[in-house]
Amino acid sequence: MAEALLQAEHINKAFSGVAALQDVQFDLKPGEVHALLGENGAGKSTLMKIISGVYTRDSGNLTVNGSKITHDLTPVSAQHLGIGIIHQELNLCPHLTVAENIFLNREFSYTAGVLNKKKQNEEAKRYLKQLNLDIDPATPTNKLPVSKQQMVEICKTLSMNASIVIMDEPTSALTEKEIEDLFSVIALLKEKGKGIVYISHRLEELSRIVDRVTILRDGKYVRTLHFAETNLPEIISLMVGRTLTEKFPRIEVSRGEKVLEVRGISSSHGVGVKDVSFDLYKGEILAFAGLMGAGRTETVRAISGADKMNAGEVILGGKPVKVKSPRDAIAQGLFCAPEDRKRDGLCVRMTLAENITLPSLDVISRFGVIMNQMERDKSAEMVKSLRIKTPGITQYVRNLSGGNQQKVVVGKWLMRNAQVVIFDEPTRGIDVASKIEIYNIINDLKKSGIGVMFVSSELPEVLGMSDRIIVMCNGRITKELVTKDTDQEEILHYATQY
Ligand SMILES: Nc1ncnc2c1ncn2[C@@H]1O[C@H](COP(=O)(O)OP(=O)(O)OP(=O)(O)O)[C@@H](O)[C@H]1O
Ligand SMILES: [Mg+2]
Repeated sequence: MAEALLQAEHINKAFSGVAALQDVQFDLKPGEVHALLGENGAGKSTLMKIISGVYTRDSGNLTVNGSKITHDLTPVSAQHLGIGIIHQELNLCPHLTVAENIFLNREFSYTAGVLNKKKQNEEAKRYLKQLNLDIDPATPTNKLPVSKQQMVEICKTLSMNASIVIMDEPTSALTEKEIEDLFSVIALLKEKGKGIVYISHRLEELSRIVDRVTILRDGKYVRTLHFAETNLPEIISLMVGRTLTEKFPRIEVSRGEKVLEVRGISSSHGVGVKDVSFDLYKGEILAFAGLMGAGRTETVRAISGADKMNAGEVILGGKPVKVKSPRDAIAQGLFCAPEDRKRDGLCVRMTLAENITLPSLDVISRFGVIMNQMERDKSAEMVKSLRIKTPGITQYVRNLSGGNQQKVVVGKWLMRNAQVVIFDEPTRGIDVASKIEIYNIINDLKKSGIGVMFVSSELPEVLGMSDRIIVMCNGRITKELVTKDTDQEEILHYATQY
C-alpha cells in the first residue's frame, strides 16, 4: 500500500479551555478523496486548520510525506510542504482582482521587482480555464457573485500545485454546473496521485467522488470507513449518534388570505430582475428554485429593500408599501435572512447575543436602553431551540463554526413579529440534523400564519418543504408549480429556459 501523504494522530486542541478536538486521527493516501464528516461544530475545520498551519495543535503527531512535523506549522510552511486549503469562509481580498487574489504573495514580477500584470493575468486565465470559468482576471472579486468567488478560491489553491488539497465545503455555494466542473478537476487531481480531503454537508454528492470517510462527533474521532462498504444512513447515524427519522418534516396548514403581492418588479442589480410577479399566502411556504445566477437572490433583495427596484409594486397585507431599505421592510413586518452571511448577515466582531438581538433592539429596549437580562434570555432561548454549538452567548460570532454562524443568521429574524419571512439558502452549510431544526422553525412560522419564502439550490429541499415553487431563469419567472404535482426533472426543465 502506498505511503500516506498525511497522517495525524492523537490531535488535541482547545480554545480558551473548551476542547474542540480530543485525540483525533486522520490519514490521507495518494490518489484518494477522503471525506471528513460531522455535525456543525464537530471540529472538521479546526482539524484542517491545524494541518494547514492556521491553528497550532496543543498536542499530537503530524506526519507529512513520511516526515514527522516537530515544529509548529504556519500557513506558509504548510504551503511549502505541499498542503493547500480551500477555506469554508471566503478568504479573498474583495478589492483585489481575480488574478491578484490567485497570486497573492506569489506575484509575478519583472526582474526589477515591478509587477508583471500581463503575465499574471495570463497565468490566472489558464487556471480559470481548467475550471471552465469565463471570468476576466482583471475583475475585482467583490464584483463577482458568491459562487464565482468560491471558484476563484479553488483556482487559487490549484495554482499552488499542492499534493494535499483540502476542500472545506467547496460546493456549498456552487451551481450545479460548477460542481460538475469541480468534480472533473478532482478526478484529474486523483489521477495525478494527489490526496484530497473533502468536507461537505451535501451528503448526496459524496458517492460521486469519495473513497473513504472519517466521521467526527463532538470533537472526537468516531470511525473511518471505505465508502463502498457503507451507506448514507449508517454515516448519518455515526455523525449524529442516533437514527434520524424523516428528512423533511412537512406539515399541512390550510393557507389563509393573501399576505404579499408582488407586481412586475424589476431591478438591475447582479443578473437583474425582469418583470417578476407572484403572490404569497398566509401559512404558505413558497420556494424559489433555479440555477445559481437565475435572479432569485436579486428578487428577494429587491423586495426586502436591499437593492433598489426600478419598477413594480409590492403589496403587503393589502397595502401598497414603499420599501427603500431593509429597515423599511423590517418596520413593515417583512424580514429577509440573506445568502452571504459574512457580508450581509452577521457582524462577526460582535457576540452571538448581540447579533441575535440586533434586529429586535426595539423589543429588548426600554427608553433606548438595552435590557441586558432580556437580551440574555432571548439569546439563550434561541441557542437552545436552534442547537447552536457555543460555549456561551457572549462568544464572538467569528469563532463559531460555519454552520453555527448560519444558524445565527436564521435565528436573528425569529424574534420578530413578522408577516413575511424570506430565507435565502437557509440551510447552506448546515448538518443533516440541524437542517431539520431549521425546517421545524420554518414550519412554526407557517403554523402561526406567516408567509414564508425561501430560495434554495437543493431541489430535494425545495420539493420536501414547499407548497408552491417559482422557477426562475435569467432574471425572469419561467414557471410556477404546485409542489405535490411536480418533480426534479420538471423544475430543472424550467430552470434552463433561457
Ligand atoms: N478561533 C476559535 N475560537 C474559539 N472557538 C473556536 C475557534 N475556532 C473554532 N472554535 C470552536 O471549535 C468547535 C469546532 O469548530 P469547527 O469550525 O472546527 O467545526 P466544523 O466541524 O467545521 O463545523 P461546520 O460544519 O459548522 O463548519 C466549535 O465549537 C467552534 O465554536
Ligand atoms: Mg467548518
